[in-house]
Amino acid sequence: MSNKSDTNCTIVLFGATGDLAKRKLYPSIYNLFKKGHLSKHFAVIGCARREWDNTTFRENVEASLRDSKIQIDPSHLESFLDHFHYTPLDVTSKEAYQNLNRLLQTLENTYEIPGNRMFYLAMAPQFFGTIASFLKSEGITNETGWNRLIIEKPFGHDLPSARQLNSEIREAFAEDEIFRIDHYLGKEMVQNIEVIRFANAIFEPLWNNRYIANIQITSSESLGVEERGGYYDKSGALRDMVQNHMLQMVALLAMEPPIRLTTNEIRSEKIKVLRALRPLELGEVDNYFVRGQYGPGKINDNEVPGYRSEGNIDPQSNTETFVAGKLLIDNFRWAGVPIYIRTGKRMTEKSTKIVVQFKDMPMNLYYRTEDKMHPNLLIIHIQPDEGISIVINGKKTENILNTAPVKLDYCENCVDQMNTPEAYEKLLHDAILGDATNFTHWDEVALSWKYVDVIYDAWEKKKASDFPNYESGTMGPTAADELLKEDGFHWWPVIEDSDYSI
Ligand code: BG6
Repeated sequence: MSNKSDTNCTIVLFGATGDLAKRKLYPSIYNLFKKGHLSKHFAVIGCARREWDNTTFRENVEASLRDSKIQIDPSHLESFLDHFHYTPLDVTSKEAYQNLNRLLQTLENTYEIPGNRMFYLAMAPQFFGTIASFLKSEGITNETGWNRLIIEKPFGHDLPSARQLNSEIREAFAEDEIFRIDHYLGKEMVQNIEVIRFANAIFEPLWNNRYIANIQITSSESLGVEERGGYYDKSGALRDMVQNHMLQMVALLAMEPPIRLTTNEIRSEKIKVLRALRPLELGEVDNYFVRGQYGPGKINDNEVPGYRSEGNIDPQSNTETFVAGKLLIDNFRWAGVPIYIRTGKRMTEKSTKIVVQFKDMPMNLYYRTEDKMHPNLLIIHIQPDEGISIVINGKKTENILNTAPVKLDYCENCVDQMNTPEAYEKLLHDAILGDATNFTHWDEVALSWKYVDVIYDAWEKKKASDFPNYESGTMGPTAADELLKEDGFHWWPVIEDSDYSI
C-alpha cells in the first residue's frame, strides 16, 4: 500500500547530464543525505541521451559536488555515490522506458524501496508531455508506492500552451502528485514573508490600504543572458520572471491569513489574490507596464555588450530584458494600493528586495522648510543578503524640530551564513515529504498566464521602437521611474539627503 509520508524513494532524474542537475540538484541531494534526510533506502537514476555508464555518471556527480561550495565529508562520499545509477534514455523510445522500469524494479529490491518514485523533469520543456505519457503507458507510474512528478519551469509559454501541457501531464499524474517548481518559493526570505506577516502583531494590523502607500518588488540581475540566448530570446523577462517568481511574491505579500498553515489553505489564499489582480485591457498596457532591453554598458568597470550582440540573439530582437509594472488588486484589503514590480538583466546589481512603504503621518509636527518626514519602510531582503530592515524616524541630535530616518537591521544570513539551505535543497526535501505548499498549483499557473498574456499580446502587436533603451549597469529605462512618479512615488533606494541606503 502507498504510504504518502514514506520518504524512502527512487529519484528518476531526466536531464541528468544538464546544467541544473550539476549546479543545483546533485549538491542538494548530497546535503539531504548528509543531514540524514535520505535514509539508506534511496536511489537516484540519471537519465539522458548520452551513453554513460554508472561509473561515468558517478564521476560527474562527484565533480559537481566538488565544483559547488558545499562541504564534502570524504568518509561517506563513496557510499553516497553508490546510490547513483544511470540509464541512457531517448525520451521518445518506448524501449528506453522499459529499460528504465526494469532498472527501477531492480534498485527497489536492492535498496528495499517500497515502490515510491519521484520523477524530476530537469530538461527541455517540449518533452514534458511525452515523458509523462510514456511513464504511464509503460507502467512506470506504479501502484505499489507513491508517484510524484517534479516539473521545472517554463510551464508553457502562454495560457493555451500551459493548458495543453497540463492536460498531458494530468493523463499520468493527479494534481496532488504534481510539484511545479518555482525556485523562489524555496528561498529562505520568500518563505519568511508569511512569518513576518502572520507572526508579528506590529505588522498584520497595518497590512492594508489604510496604512500602506505602496509595495515595491525589485529583482535585478547584473548578468546578461549568458548561454541561454536561444531560450531567452523567445521568452523575455515577462515570461521568464514575472509570470512566475514576481507574481508568486505578490501573492504571498497580498494574501489573507490562511485559516491553517496547510497546503490547501495557503494555496487557496494565494489563488484568491491572483484572481483579484485587476486585468488589463490590451489598449491600456502601456499605462501600467514598461519594457526595456539592455544596450552595451559597464558592469563592475567591465565593458559588456548589448543584448542584440549576445550569442543566439536576433540582432533585431524585440525581446524585453527588463519589465516594470504597476499591479492593482481589487479587494477590500488592497483597493487603491499600487504594487510595483521590476526585474531585468544587466542591471546595476544582483539583488531581490521588497519594500513596503507606509503612508505618511496625518500631519507633520516636525515639518521645517524643505525637510519632509521620511516614510516608514519595511524592507525584506531576499538576496543576496537575507534579512529585514525597518526604517523609522528619530530625532536629529542637533535640532529637536527635525527628524532623521533610522534604519534597524536584522540580517539573517549574517548570523549563520553557511547553514542557509539552498532553495533547491528545501524544495526537493518538501517533495520527498509530499509537502506541496511551496510549489505552484495549476490554478496559480493558469491565473498568472492569464494576467501576463495580455501584456505580451500588446507588446507583440506594437514593436518597441526605442530598444535598446537602457544601458547595462543601470536600473532600467527612465520610463520605469515615470511609472511611480505619476503616483507621487519613487523606487527605493533613491534616498536623497540621507546617510543610509537600503
Ligand atoms: C530563473 C530565470 O527562473 O530565475 C533566470 O529563468 C533568472 O533567467 C533566475 O536568472 C533568477 O533566479 P535567482 O535565484 O538567481 O534570482
